[in-house]
Amino acid sequence: MSGKLACVKTPLPGPKGAALLEKWHRFEVNTVGFQAPVVWDTAQGVVVKDVDGNTFLDWTSGVLVTNVGHCHPKLVKAVQEAVARLINNYECPTPARIEAAERLVAHLPPHMDKCFFLTTGSEATESVTRIMKRKTGCFEVIGFHGGFHGRTYAAAGVGGLTNPKKGYGPTMPGAIRVPFPYSYRSPVGDDPGKLIDFAMTMLEEGVRANSTGSLAGMMVEPYLGAAGFIFPPDGYLAELQKWCRAKGIVFAVDEVQSSYGRTGRMWGHQWEAVEPDLMAIGKGIGNGIPTAAIAGRTETLSGMGPGDMSSTVGGNPVSSAAVIAILEIMDEEKLSENALAVGKVIKDRLLAIQDKSRIVGDVRGRGLVMGVELVKDRKTKEPAADLTRKLIVRAAEKGLLIGSVGIFGNVIRVAPPLVINEAQAHESLDIFASALADVEKR
Ligand SMILES: Cc1ncc(COP(=O)(O)O)c(C=O)c1O
Repeated sequence: MSGKLACVKTPLPGPKGAALLEKWHRFEVNTVGFQAPVVWDTAQGVVVKDVDGNTFLDWTSGVLVTNVGHCHPKLVKAVQEAVARLINNYECPTPARIEAAERLVAHLPPHMDKCFFLTTGSEATESVTRIMKRKTGCFEVIGFHGGFHGRTYAAAGVGGLTNPKKGYGPTMPGAIRVPFPYSYRSPVGDDPGKLIDFAMTMLEEGVRANSTGSLAGMMVEPYLGAAGFIFPPDGYLAELQKWCRAKGIVFAVDEVQSSYGRTGRMWGHQWEAVEPDLMAIGKGIGNGIPTAAIAGRTETLSGMGPGDMSSTVGGNPVSSAAVIAILEIMDEEKLSENALAVGKVIKDRLLAIQDKSRIVGDVRGRGLVMGVELVKDRKTKEPAADLTRKLIVRAAEKGLLIGSVGIFGNVIRVAPPLVINEAQAHESLDIFASALADVEKR
């Protein structure tokens, strides 16, 4: 026994996987981004098995979803029991929904005291824009270049990526987007103070040029997710909050992917001394059971009354059972702490890998969310999306599942389930290093 968890015995895709992929594309519109040709079958913790019996270590967590690990036994049991009891109820209260709300509020930042259950992250960010408009009676929402809040109307409009908007005509009226500090590619270099000053000047200028005087609020991710795991300098969120307070507008954070321990704290914004008015929550709150939420102060949510916010399956008994079990697992297994500890092990080795590499331009991140930005040349920083795709395939062939993000499609997502241990981290890093070496050699 080698003790290794990853084991790929067939070419990718294997015979069963190839047949299924062909069938998939015959029936479902192919809109997915680039990925290795692997048809998932089962998964446990950080290990995924495909339909051909190959096993892989997982650096994707779906897309930063399965924070408590794939098919955690406690979550599976809670969901199975809930399904057998009551699946659907719409808005009627159930003990599970009420307990889920109580538990979620207990885990919110202390200044927040109310939540509401929805179904997807986009629905949560969409609701955040509505709540801030209702609260202020204004309609303009500030977002950020590279921001991603989902593909629905307001979410895509406030976001600063073109793909969710391309071909659909004008976006939400009142969306004002301004630059976000991207230290690796900033025109003012990587000095944190300069980055923040520049970003705040751009914010002032963007608002001066575009606002008609109807600012409702701002929505910001604690780090830009889809744009490439771009972390702002410490102090930036605090400056944004100060700016919003001075203008008397709502300061909202999109914690759909940055929360539930992913950065080493329950909520990604908790690395700074900020108290956002509103929060969009998704992904990790359900670990794959479709669930999302918004949260905030009673006062901020006071504009929403009976009939103003609902979601057909939001807060259903099954997702409520999941919400409860997941919070218990997070606490019992101290997953935020594990994210910090194992995240450090991974980051240290990634930085060592970068030292020896011609194509790793930047390694960044916190806890168990790290981006490895690949470039054709470390001096010119020309993005290397082609090499990123090759690396994704090569890593899968060797037993590691990774995905990519980034404005230029050139950032490897390092985001394993938070239950990953050091041995699994090292095994996955060995595979990553070897796959990278193969890609660099070609
Ligand atoms: C920060 C952020 N907000 C919102 C969303 C949209 O979530 P969903 O796909 O569940 O609608 C995502 C999804 O990737 C996200 O990363």
